[in-house]
Amino acid sequence: MTSKPRLFSGMQPSARSLHLGNFASALTQWNQMQSEYDAYFCIVDLHALTVPQDPEQLRESTRRTAAQYIAAGIDPKASTLFVQSHVDAHPKLAWILNTITGFGEASRMTQFKDKAAKQGKDSASVGLFAYPMLMAADILLYQTRAVPVGDDQKQHVELTRDLAERFNSRFGRTFEVPEVMTLKEGARIYDLQDPASKMSKSSTSDAGVVWILDDPAVTAKKIRSAVTDNDREIRFDRAKKPGVSNLLSINSALSGKGISQLEEEYAGKGYGDLKGELAELVVETLTPIRNRTLELLADPAELDRVLAGNADRASEIADATVRDAYEKVGLLLKP
Ligand code: AMP
Ligand code: TRP
Repeated sequence: MTSKPRLFSGMQPSARSLHLGNFASALTQWNQMQSEYDAYFCIVDLHALTVPQDPEQLRESTRRTAAQYIAAGIDPKASTLFVQSHVDAHPKLAWILNTITGFGEASRMTQFKDKAAKQGKDSASVGLFAYPMLMAADILLYQTRAVPVGDDQKQHVELTRDLAERFNSRFGRTFEVPEVMTLKEGARIYDLQDPASKMSKSSTSDAGVVWILDDPAVTAKKIRSAVTDNDREIRFDRAKKPGVSNLLSINSALSGKGISQLEEEYAGKGYGDLKGELAELVVETLTPIRNRTLELLADPAELDRVLAGNADRASEIADATVRDAYEKVGLLLKP
């Protein structure tokens, strides 16, 4: 038994590869949290279904996402890394939470409003509307204390807290009320071709995104072709020198050196040096992760076995919570 506080976070299996931004912030921080928390990391494939998906690609992305997390340091023995659809309790509790969520309350979720606006209001699915309650179920099933998320997910965690408190006061203490844990903003990485925008899975230009699973030669070329500017000075200035600043941030995130130390080291050197050395550093950092990922993916049966074992571990806790919630709301339990 462990007495560490419980932590839960989720990631959507929404791309063929994770990118350098995911690695530099989320993955690095999750790796550090594993030792202090009893951590649950969930690949939220049911959430991915709320926008149109290619079935084969979703299955493949789910395995790839898991493999990359393991390759980058999430230890599936120390932490519970599992696939959401492997644990039946998630949609079960989500349904119960749907029944205590107000229509108006769910309508105020800004992510729903943004995504629905993008799809055209009438083509957004009921699933997209119910997304936050499924996320609340993810968290509440495990009596979670800490939920590390980016800024955009804070509102969903607030809703989760409201639902936990509402359920507890209506039916009796059932759920731990979780705390949001904001990820450090330090390591925000921008698109190499468009350094005003975040590096993102949905970037328009592939040349601006460093994918963990890219061939190392492709990665090096992308870094060497990064947009900079017309003067020659290597210094950090997000507003005036976004391209150069981004390269310094990436270097700092991967080398652990401070920005001012890097500015000193590069005083008098050219952009060619900055890019060449960064290309080496990125390739050095990502290549072992890429190789390990490919190794894991070469044996999908073993990977599936690890994920299934972790899902069983998760189910033990999640099933007990669902049973308790079912009983509290008055469902007749199957003996
Ligand atoms: P996403 O790729 O949007 O699903 O995000 C997964 C995680 O990676 C989130 O915790 C984000 O905060 C983080 N992340 C995504 N893009 C970036 C980026 N460009 N720089 C730093 N972190 C990022
Ligand atoms: N909605 C989160 C995102 O897009 C992913 C997610 C699903 C999640 N369930 C969660 C995050 C539970 C934290 C806790 O990033």
